[in-house]
Amino acid sequence: MSTAIDLTNTRRALPLRSRERFARPRLLELPRPKGELVHAHDGRELRLRGIEPGDVAALKRQFGRLSPEDIRRRFLHSMGELPEPMAQRLCRIDPALETAFVLMDETVHPAEIRGVGRIYVDEAANSAEFSVLVEREWTRQGLGALLMQRLVDDCRRRGLHEIWGYVLLENRPMLHLCKELGFVRRLTPEEPGTTQISLQL
Ligand SMILES: CC(C)(COP(=O)(O)OP(=O)(O)OC[C@H]1O[C@@H](n2cnc3c(N)ncnc32)[C@H](O)[C@@H]1OP(=O)(O)O)[C@@H](O)C(=O)NCCC(=O)NCCS
Repeated sequence: MSTAIDLTNTRRALPLRSRERFARPRLLELPRPKGELVHAHDGRELRLRGIEPGDVAALKRQFGRLSPEDIRRRFLHSMGELPEPMAQRLCRIDPALETAFVLMDETVHPAEIRGVGRIYVDEAANSAEFSVLVEREWTRQGLGALLMQRLVDDCRRRGLHEIWGYVLLENRPMLHLCKELGFVRRLTPEEPGTTQISLQL
């Protein structure tokens, strides 16, 4: 009669080896947050990153917080709401021809967009049209300048010769900001009440 012991399942019953017992628990690998942290002059923290298709709801909420004046200054005409197709379009960009940065406030839930800066490239003219917007409660904190600087850098990276945009003549804050960044004004007789500002790169 054989005295051999069947060891096939014994390992399962034994206590864990010490290297297994004291091994550090494996942390779940979470995806790294995109973009970079930036600070307003008063120390408030925001995340600067590229806009994403998933930002539609946040973009619509931000639009809902804007004053009629800010909407007119950003879109150059009045708008009562941000239509869904337009919100979708603004968040789903074509990276070959567009760049759009958002400043995300992650101290609230859900996270809110406090600023947006974007460019549309005109390949034929080797230039890009910009737009920028910072929510009223976050203005005078250096964020408009930050967004503009990033857009200028992006245009340079693309090898463009010019960045330009339309600004209402009554929009003193934007005209001030652009002057500080070295933009110059061009007359636009065809668009009364508006000026075209541009920076050669
Ligand atoms: C224009 C706008 C983007 C400025 O953003 P912001 O975050 O306040 O700008 P910053 O804090 O970076 O200001 C930079 C400089 O711009 C000038 N500036 C900004 N706001 C100003 C204001 N209300 N009055 C005078 N100058 C102003 C200042 O020179 C300022 O520097 P300082 O604060 O050191 O004096 C913001 O007011 C906005 O979104 N307005 C509505 C949308 C719009 O007008 N978009 C532009 C057309 S696309």
